[in-house]
Amino acid sequence: MDNLQIENYERHSILGLILSVIVILGVGFIWINEASRMDSTESEYIFESELRGNILYLENCTSCHGPRGEGGAGPVLNNLYFLEEASDEALFATINTGRPGTSMPAWGQISGGIFTDEDIQDIVNFVRKWEETASFVEEDIFEPNASRGASIYLSTCFICHEGATAVRLNNQEKILSRDEDWYRQTIINGRPAKGMPSWGKALSTHQVEDLMALISAWGEGQQIAPDTSVLEILMSALFALSQKDSEDAIFYLERAEKIAFGPTKQQIPLIILQLNNNSLDEAYASLIQVKDLWPIGDAERGVEIYSATCLSCHGAEGEGGVGPKLTMNDFIQTSTNSSLLTFLLAGSPDTPMRGFDERLSEFQLADVIAFLRTWQTTTP
Ligand code: HEC
Ligand code: HEC
Ligand code: HEC
Repeated sequence: MDNLQIENYERHSILGLILSVIVILGVGFIWINEASRMDSTESEYIFESELRGNILYLENCTSCHGPRGEGGAGPVLNNLYFLEEASDEALFATINTGRPGTSMPAWGQISGGIFTDEDIQDIVNFVRKWEETASFVEEDIFEPNASRGASIYLSTCFICHEGATAVRLNNQEKILSRDEDWYRQTIINGRPAKGMPSWGKALSTHQVEDLMALISAWGEGQQIAPDTSVLEILMSALFALSQKDSEDAIFYLERAEKIAFGPTKQQIPLIILQLNNNSLDEAYASLIQVKDLWPIGDAERGVEIYSATCLSCHGAEGEGGVGPKLTMNDFIQTSTNSSLLTFLLAGSPDTPMRGFDERLSEFQLADVIAFLRTWQTTTP
């Protein structure tokens, strides 16, 4: 019995000693690691705060500043110029009190908004994180444009809203009776239960604002012509004809004629004539042909544009370089002018072949295409 107790005490004291050593080592370890340990709780805290900020941002700010801070009705926030200038305190203050006299709301509870100081700090931390990757964006020159809105409308909304599926949106009385933001939110969030898709992800903030500009112009009773390429308008005419709607087809053809060039400009009135004579099938066939030949350019003018724009990658003789060889090229030979035009406007994603949409007009691209055709018949 006694022996056992002694043994037990010894066991206890050995255990005690081991524990003390562990504690001492542990304290030493903690002491040595104190600095980095504090760093990691700090960064964990920031990480969680950014995450909360991210959610608040997505729920409350994207409709005006875009999901990635790319701007829209509100300025670009994901911009190095801006983020370097604005201190955390300045960001906090702007979000807290808003910008009176503009559409930037006051978000802080102190100013009648919904956010606590902690919420706002979370958003500031989230926005601040963009600074690591932000680029310099030129002063935001985005101006909502009703004509651009009309082309988005034509390509995306028309199919339901001018057909039997949904109400006509061009309704002045209705537009005037509603809050502008009601339309913005309806477009962004849709009405899934009624068959209206949500466009918040498919359209950029800028595109939504272009649509808003269109809707307010309609509210003022204006008729807005879409700012679209000839090709897109010809496609709309073709679509209308496929629905046997010659009235709409004529509407598009008249628009296409105004902005078309080359022989196409003379061919379009002939199609309109066929439609007026009720020869729908003939008109359809002619329209397909006109669309496939579109655009007809001038090879001589094309040489200069090629040298200035394409030569650096495709070579002076079209022999290739960064880009493939363009002489006796299968892709060119098997493509219509209009599909080449579409390709050149859009470019080839994730390659150095960027789209020329904003850099060359259809008129100039037509000339380049005509020039590329001269390389398809003779081996250089
Ligand atoms: C209804 C549209 C709208 C919403 C929603 C909105 N903003 Fe703004 N915001 C604006 C406008 C417009 C401005 C520019 C005000 C001005 O001209 O000074 C702005 C300015 C700002 C600025 C200052 C930018 C600068 O260049 O000085 C910050 C920061 C900002 N908003 C953050 C936010 C955050 C964060 C949210 C969400 C909590 C938010 N905004 C929600 C419209 C909005
Ligand atoms: C797939 C069909 C479809 C497409 C495409 C579509 N909508 Fe809708 N839209 C609907 C339906 C269905 C409704 C709800 C029923 C109704 O009010 O007619 C609706 C309702 C709306 C409303 C509310 C109209 C009102 O007065 O109640 C707006 C605004 C709207 N859509 C805008 C757009 C815009 C802008 C686009 C293009 C970006 C678009 N829609 C594309 C089907 C569509
Ligand atoms: C910065 C370099 C660069 C410039 C400038 C450039 N391209 Fe390209 N191009 C490429 C690359 C790279 C490809 C291959 C893309 C791919 O792999 O999808 C390509 C592909 C093409 C193709 C498809 C060829 C095939 O066989 O698939 C055509 C046609 C073409 N370019 C025409 C042009 C024209 C016309 C211009 C001037 C208006 C031009 N490119 C300017 C780099 C360039």
